[in-house]
Amino acid sequence: MKLFTLHTGVSIAFWVHVGLASSIDSSALCPSTSFQIQYCGRTLEHGEAAFLDGVGNELGPALKANNTARGVSSIWEVRESPGKGLGVFATTLITAGSRVMVEPPLFAIKPPEFIPGKGYEIEAMIADVDKAVAALSSEEQDEFRSCHEHRLPNEAASEHRRNMFIFRSNAYTLTDGKIAMFPKIAKINHSCRPNAANVWSSVSRLRIIWAARDILPGEEVSVTYAPLLQTREDRQKRLAQYGFRCSCEACHDHAHTDPRRKQMARLLSELEDRLARKTSAFANKKLLLKATALVEMLEEEHMMDYLPNAYRMAAELSFRLDNITAAEDWARQELRLHENADELSSASQDAVAFLLKTTSAR
Ligand SMILES: *[C@@H]1O[C@H](CO)[C@@H](O)[C@H](O)[C@H]1NC(C)=O
Ligand SMILES: *[C@@H]1O[C@H](CO)[C@@H](O)[C@H](O)[C@H]1NC(C)=O
Ligand SMILES: *[C@@H]1O[C@H](CO)[C@@H](O)[C@H](O)[C@H]1NC(C)=O
Repeated sequence: MKLFTLHTGVSIAFWVHVGLASSIDSSALCPSTSFQIQYCGRTLEHGEAAFLDGVGNELGPALKANNTARGVSSIWEVRESPGKGLGVFATTLITAGSRVMVEPPLFAIKPPEFIPGKGYEIEAMIADVDKAVAALSSEEQDEFRSCHEHRLPNEAASEHRRNMFIFRSNAYTLTDGKIAMFPKIAKINHSCRPNAANVWSSVSRLRIIWAARDILPGEEVSVTYAPLLQTREDRQKRLAQYGFRCSCEACHDHAHTDPRRKQMARLLSELEDRLARKTSAFANKKLLLKATALVEMLEEEHMMDYLPNAYRMAAELSFRLDNITAAEDWARQELRLHENADELSSASQDAVAFLLKTTSAR
């Protein structure tokens, strides 16, 4: 099932903040000490590596909207969020599906070797980060230094590491293994029920933020820094590395949201598991009901990291049941979400290929 290898097990569709372990105290930054690969000792979940490439076919840049972060934007502004420091706020209605920000990396560095269970050696990166920052214009340096900086208590006096601390608190891992800084996007705060999706386009080498639902004038724009189909406790552990505790409404309402998120995670993994194999018509009918239930729950919470996958599973099951019309409808929904980020991405192309396969079965 090639089609599913691309989408399976998406836990966080596009990116992972770097969790750089200092050689002094790696455990405080990297709660997980998994001995697998990469990212703060966190094991990449099945299929995630493929999806880190969120949008990825090398067909060249063709961005349909142009809300670039390079210049002045008329649709968002950076200002104080009560009790939360700086945040990004909509200055106008930003309609669901439209782009909020598009930003190229300010700089990217190649990280040193990752040490399993420990992370990256900070000392080995300081010189590279300092060099990259020194090469920026003074305006760009100001922009870099305006970003949030989280230090551990034992790091308070390490002034010479300041650039590194800022970098560690904000950078993203790219698909080519480099770690990059996006200073404007870095000012978007976290929510466990975010109103915007966050995708790295390896085609256009831009990070793209698009509205997962309508964002009202004056409303704060939010993305997630942690996989969402986890319980509050697990999300908080992960968010601790950025130095804050989340107090979003989903965390507040955890008695209700935890069981729901666990249920979504369970449905997702059951469906992926079953769809990787041949299924009987009898099973397909039951599985389609589950896929539809999953889609409804994900839609209710605007979970754009997981919805394309759920749409595809509903499409595939309809296809297996010879319901071509329904398969096409689901596949179009999937495609629409991929296109909100980048219509030439490999994810979009893959959805188009599925649609063509479905249509030719008519
Ligand atoms: C986006 O803006 C850039 C810079 O102003 C311009 O070169 C490019 O053609 C624009 N792209 C689109 C699709 O309008
Ligand atoms: C929101 O982001 C700003 C800027 O990065 C940071 O200073 C602030 O601590 C963040 N607040 C929360 C709650 O994450
Ligand atoms: C195909 O699926 C649609 C949407 O679920 C449903 O309304 C329709 O009855 C199905 N058609 C057949 C022939 O099963």
